[in-house]
Amino acid sequence: MSFPEERPRRLRGNPLLRSLVRESSLSARDLILPVFVSEAIETRREVPTMPGVFQETTESLVKVAEEAVALGIPGIILFGIPARKDAQGSFAWDEQGVVQRALRRLRQAVGESLLLIADDCLDEFTDHGHCGVLTEHGDVDNDATIALYAKTAVSQAAAGADVIAPSGMMDGQVAAIRSALDEAGLEQTAILAYAAKFASSFYGPFRDAAECRPQFGDRRSYQMDPANRREAMREIEMDVLEGADLLMVKPALPYLDVVLDARQHFDQPLGVFSVSGEYAMLRAGAAAGGLELKDTVLETHLAMRRAGADFILTYFARDICRWLEEAG
Ligand code: PBG
Repeated sequence: MSFPEERPRRLRGNPLLRSLVRESSLSARDLILPVFVSEAIETRREVPTMPGVFQETTESLVKVAEEAVALGIPGIILFGIPARKDAQGSFAWDEQGVVQRALRRLRQAVGESLLLIADDCLDEFTDHGHCGVLTEHGDVDNDATIALYAKTAVSQAAAGADVIAPSGMMDGQVAAIRSALDEAGLEQTAILAYAAKFASSFYGPFRDAAECRPQFGDRRSYQMDPANRREAMREIEMDVLEGADLLMVKPALPYLDVVLDARQHFDQPLGVFSVSGEYAMLRAGAAAGGLELKDTVLETHLAMRRAGADFILTYFARDICRWLEEAG
């Protein structure tokens, strides 16, 4: 019996050769840290289902931002938890809202050394927990909602956000936000579209963290059906045509086929959001024993890059940076 000519193991025995032929990489510069800022608390509070993740006060958030800068993380994405909610979610576009205040404070603290990305959605701000305003039948009213996303975007950009990230999966939301920003003279503010966002059970811990669990029903009338891969490309294409600057697929791990498709179909910069449930799952697995946290997290995030993600929104951003620094 003859051996094949090619012997892949020749390139695996020597660590320098392994590193020379490595096809994907992971670095601090690829990561965005999601953060929660609450105006309903006096001191930062750990999210029970997400050990190591906190609801921050504006001041403790400044420390987190400074830490991110020191670690080489290029940006954070901000989720706000208001002290008061109403049916419209009107504190989302309030100049004195929790996100707007945090943005101004962060900009003052970190200058231009960190990208400030503002999640633009209403679920944290509505008393019913849905991502938009409701019709009399209790459905989310698409067109009334995108007008509110547009107002929210303008107020966030005026408060200092570099990038607006609409996450509500309403039809036409990117176009509505783009034209409102342009009309307000905010042509330089970029849009990161949650272009293919699936109705996922992996958002469970986030809904505790952001206090935005829907009070009735679910989000399946606006977020995508997890079964649909081709439809994801149509969703992304609409956002590209509407003027999205940056694209995103969410969640990450269970949807890497969609990430790969998106990479092959579109040239725009592409991100993935490794969501709260992915974080909780890996933490719980490691705490239960059997999974080595560092190795598992580095492997899963490398897999997101291998699938084609240019950047990753991940609650592990700081841990990953520390581990990469240790490894040298
Ligand atoms: C909606 C929003 C959600 C997440 C980000 N933006 C929750 C949802 O759609 O129910 C989830 C993020 C995560 O799970 O980490 N504003």
